[in-house]
Amino acid sequence: MGKSSKDKRDAYYRLAKEEGWRARSAYKLLQLDEEFNLFEGVTRVVDLCAAPGSWSQVLSRVLIKGEKFGRAGWQDKQKNMRDYVLGGGGEKEEVKEEGKEEGGVEGEVEKKAEETPKLTPREGVRIVAIDLQPMSPLDGVTTMRADITHPSTIPLMLKALDPDTYSPSSPLNSSPVDLVISDGAPDVTGLHDLDIYVQSQLLWAALNLALCVLKPGGKFVAKIFRGKDVDLLFAQLKIVFERVRVAKPRSSRASSIEAFVVCEGFCPPEGFMPSLERPLGAGTVLPEPVREEPVSSDAKKPEKKVTSRVREDGAIEIDLGDETDDEDDIEEGGRRWIAPFLACGDLSAYDADATYHLPKDRVSLDPVQPPTAPPYKRALEMRKLAGGAYGKTKGRAEKAAS
Ligand SMILES: C[S@@+](CC[C@H](N)C(=O)[O-])C[C@H]1O[C@@H](n2cnc3c(N)ncnc32)[C@H](O)[C@@H]1O
Repeated sequence: MGKSSKDKRDAYYRLAKEEGWRARSAYKLLQLDEEFNLFEGVTRVVDLCAAPGSWSQVLSRVLIKGEKFGRAGWQDKQKNMRDYVLGGGGEKEEVKEEGKEEGGVEGEVEKKAEETPKLTPREGVRIVAIDLQPMSPLDGVTTMRADITHPSTIPLMLKALDPDTYSPSSPLNSSPVDLVISDGAPDVTGLHDLDIYVQSQLLWAALNLALCVLKPGGKFVAKIFRGKDVDLLFAQLKIVFERVRVAKPRSSRASSIEAFVVCEGFCPPEGFMPSLERPLGAGTVLPEPVREEPVSSDAKKPEKKVTSRVREDGAIEIDLGDETDDEDDIEEGGRRWIAPFLACGDLSAYDADATYHLPKDRVSLDPVQPPTAPPYKRALEMRKLAGGAYGKTKGRAEKAAS
C-alpha cells in the first residue's frame, strides 16, 4: 500500500505525521487520558514496549514541557468555549462575527487556545522507556533496550529510575512510580490463539514490572487482546487494583481484538512481595487478599444506591452502585470477573475503520521517525548483496543488461 493510499485509509496514520507523533498509537494514549485523566498528579512513569516512542513523546510533552492534551486539553477547550459564549461585550461580538466566517465558535476557540498555550511543566519528572528495539532519543526520557519478559530487566529498570540511589542489595527500596503503561504487542501471526497467548505473556511481564515499582494508589495501563478467557485476567488484576476497566479508544480499529486495561488504585494484598527471582507468568495466581469474615447469607444485602454528581467539566456522572456489588459479577469461586467496558475518544474524532477522501493536490508526508532498526532491514541488505537492486536477483539484472 502506497503512502498516500494509507493516508486515506488510516486517518490516524496521516494525523500522526501532520501533528508530529512518531506513531498513530499516540492517539490511543491521548484518548485513554481523555476518559481516565491518567496524568493527573503523575511525575514518575515507566513506558514498556515503547518503540518507536509516541507514548513516550506524549509523556515528555505533557509532563516535561507541560503541554495540554487529552483530558486537560479537552477541559481547556471547554473552558475557552464557556468563556467565549458567556463573555459577551462589543469586542467579543466582533470576534464572533469573524469566527463565523472562519469556522464558527469552534474555530475561534481553537484559535484562542493556540494563541495562548499555557505551559505547566512538572517538577521531578522521571520517565523510563523500555523496548526490544532501539529508540531514538526523546527529551527527558531515559530509553533502555531490553526484553520485558526477562527477569534481568527488573533491576535494570529500577536502576534507570533511580541511578543515584539504586542499591543492588535492596533493589525494591527504590522510589515508586505513579504510572506504568505498556503497549506491548508481539509480531502477530494471524493465529488468534497463539497471538493471544504471546500477548498475555507480555501483559504478565508488564504487570510483574509494575508490581515492583508502583506506589500504592498507582495506575497500570496495558494493551490486551480480548480472548475468551480474558475475564480470568480481569479477576486477577482486581486483586491488586481497586478499579479495573477495559477501554477501547476510537483510534483502535473496531475490527481488532485489541483493547486496554486501565487499572487504578494499586492496593497489593497485605504481606505481598513482588519477586525478582520468581516473576509472574501465565498460570500464576496472585494471592487473594485477606477479606473480612463473610456476613451470614440471610443477612440483608445493602440496597443498590444510585447516585449522581456533576463533574468539574460539567458532565453528569451516574454511579449505579456496582462497586459494592463486585461479588455478584464473580463466578467460578471468584476466578472470573467481567470488567466494565468503555469506548473512549470524542465521537467527533476520526473513525479508525473509515476511509477519508483527501484533496487531489495533497502532499503525503514522511513518517516523523522511521524505524531505527526494523526487522526487515537485514533482509533488504541481504537481497541487495545477492542481487543488486531491491527485488531483482543478480541473474535477472545481468540478463536485463545483456
Ligand atoms: C505497538 S508497538 C509500541 C508502540 C509505542 N507504544 C509507541 O507509541 O510508539 C509494540 C512494541 O512492543 C515491543 N515489544 C514486543 N515484545 C517485547 C518484549 N518482550 N520486550 C520489550 N518490548 C517488546 C516491540 O518491539 C514494539 O516496539
